[in-house]
Amino acid sequence: MENLKVLGISGSLRRDSYNRKALQVAKKIATDLGAEVSEIDLKELNLPIYDGDIEALGLPENVRQFKSAVEASDVILIASPEYNYSISGALKTALEWGSRGGGNSFDGKWAIIFGASPGLVGTLRGQFQLRQIFYDLNVLALPQPQVFIRNAREAFDTDGTFKDLKTYEQLKKLIQKTFEVVEKLKN
Ligand SMILES: Cc1cc2nc3c(=O)[nH]c(=O)nc-3n(C[C@H](O)[C@H](O)[C@H](O)COP(=O)(O)O)c2cc1C
Repeated sequence: MENLKVLGISGSLRRDSYNRKALQVAKKIATDLGAEVSEIDLKELNLPIYDGDIEALGLPENVRQFKSAVEASDVILIASPEYNYSISGALKTALEWGSRGGGNSFDGKWAIIFGASPGLVGTLRGQFQLRQIFYDLNVLALPQPQVFIRNAREAFDTDGTFKDLKTYEQLKKLIQKTFEVVEKLKN
C-alpha cells in the first residue's frame, strides 16, 4: 500500500467523541497497512457554513486548506456520527465546500466510511445518507463490509481500542479491501 495517501476526517467536533476514537483505530490500521495517513480536524479548521456570498468573495483560507488536503489524498477515512438519522452538520459543511470553488475536490476519490453511536444501529441511517451524497460528489465506497459501532459508550477500552474484536476485524477488512481495489485501479 505504499504511496497510498489517506486523509482521516471525524464528523464529530466533540473532543471525547466516539467517532474521533474510532477514527484513530482506523488510522492505525491504515498506517500498519503501509499507507501515508494524515487527519484534518474540522473543529480546528472551523469552516464557515457554506454561503454563496462567501464563495463569491473568494474561498476562505481554511476552505482552500480543506480542499487541498482532499485533493492530495487517494482515500478519505470518514467517521461520522448520526445526527437526526443523517450526518453531522460539520461534515455536511465540509462536503459542500469540498464540492465547490473551482471544482469538486472529491471527484473520483475513494472513501471508507464507518460510525459510532451509543444507540443500537450504530449510524446505519447516517451512512446511507452519506452514500447518497457520494453519488453527487462522485466518491466511490465499497458497499460491503459495513461497519456500525453500536453501544459506543461501552465499545472502547481506556486505551481507545475496541473491546469487541469482531468490530475491529470488520473495520480492518473494509480498509484492507478498499486499499486492494484502489491499488488495482491505480496500477
Ligand atoms: C443533534 C443530535 C442528533 C442525534 N441524532 C441521533 C440519531 O439520529 N441516531 C443516533 O444513533 N444517535 C443520535 N444522536 C446521538 C449521537 O449518536 C451521540 O451524541 C454520539 O455520541 C455522537 O457522536 P460522537 O460521540 O462522535 O460525538 C444525536 C445527537 C445529537 C447531538
